[in-house]
Amino acid sequence: MAEPINVVVTGAAGQIAYSLLYQLAAGSVFGPEQPINLRLLDIPPMMEVLQGVVMELDDLALNLLREVTPTADPAVAFKDAAAAFLVGAMPRKQGMERKDLLSANVKIFKVQGEALDKFARKDVKVLVVGNPANTNALICSHYAPSIPKENFTAMTRLDQNRAQAALAARLSVQVDRIQNVIIWGNHSSTQYPDAHHALVHLPSGAKPVPEAVNDDAWLNGEFVEKIQKRGAAVIAARKMSSAMSAAKAAGDHMRDWWIGTRPGKWVSMGVVSDGSYGIPKDIVFSFPVTIKDHQFKIVQDLPINEFAKAKLNATAKELEEERAEANSVLEQ
Ligand code: NAI
Repeated sequence: MAEPINVVVTGAAGQIAYSLLYQLAAGSVFGPEQPINLRLLDIPPMMEVLQGVVMELDDLALNLLREVTPTADPAVAFKDAAAAFLVGAMPRKQGMERKDLLSANVKIFKVQGEALDKFARKDVKVLVVGNPANTNALICSHYAPSIPKENFTAMTRLDQNRAQAALAARLSVQVDRIQNVIIWGNHSSTQYPDAHHALVHLPSGAKPVPEAVNDDAWLNGEFVEKIQKRGAAVIAARKMSSAMSAAKAAGDHMRDWWIGTRPGKWVSMGVVSDGSYGIPKDIVFSFPVTIKDHQFKIVQDLPINEFAKAKLNATAKELEEERAEANSVLEQ
């Protein structure tokens, strides 16, 4: 069997981590042949809760899980990390402005970027889940200059999974019959869930989703809004934010990054923009990507119509505003 790798989960005492940790320990992310050491980071007041999580991890009695280290010290957590799930973040409280939320989080992700820079492996794969995920990933990368920018990503996979599930329901097919739906932009309500390049596999063969749905008004209207507002709908019903589905999506994102995508299939990931599709550089923007040998490539040359262009520009503009606000916090 391979040597164990160190996998960090921050916000380890929280609700997303509670669902994520089992997937990691059971081998559904890094594969059934890859043992892991878990480094669990949370803040000092959560250490007792975290001890309970550690007891449960022990009680899973799973072979792949080797050391488990609960800690409030980023230096301990990120030591020789091969992969990091940055889930812990300051939650938005009632009456909090986006700027206040950014301000609290920019500080957290600065500290964690610096710790990654100092202590993690230079090929560490970082997935930021904690919101505002795209801008947190940008800050984190900024403070870890010795690690390539390509190693910092933000999660839009939950949005992709939601979009895939909504299309499967609409077309009455199993969810794995839908492929290549795209999430462009920010993990926020300005994101653009785009089904125009997606395919559905029917018994008669593969068909473009727009042709199968045959209702552009729905694809450009109700569908887009439903995915943009799905997180809020879950909060309204559950009184807590999506956790089981967020953890599953985090596992999906990292597994595809680690193992690669299947030929002809894309996934959406927030990555540092290289200017593809005219998106400004130096924001973390969700693009369709393919992955091979642990490296992603942005899918190029997809036709973008005027409707899509306006949506891409709106979500890019929001990310530029977030970056400016984050920079103003950092300059203070
Ligand atoms: P939670 O509140 O249950 O857990 C968050 C945990 O993070 C808490 O245990 C808290 O003590 C910890 N934490 C806070 N500051 C920390 C720090 N500096 N270092 C380490 N740990 C720290 O929240 P939940 O439900 O697990 O969500 C976590 C984050 O994920 C939130 O920001 C949420 O908005 C975001 N989220 C992102 C999604 C996405 O699609 N990108 C989907 C759903 C949630």
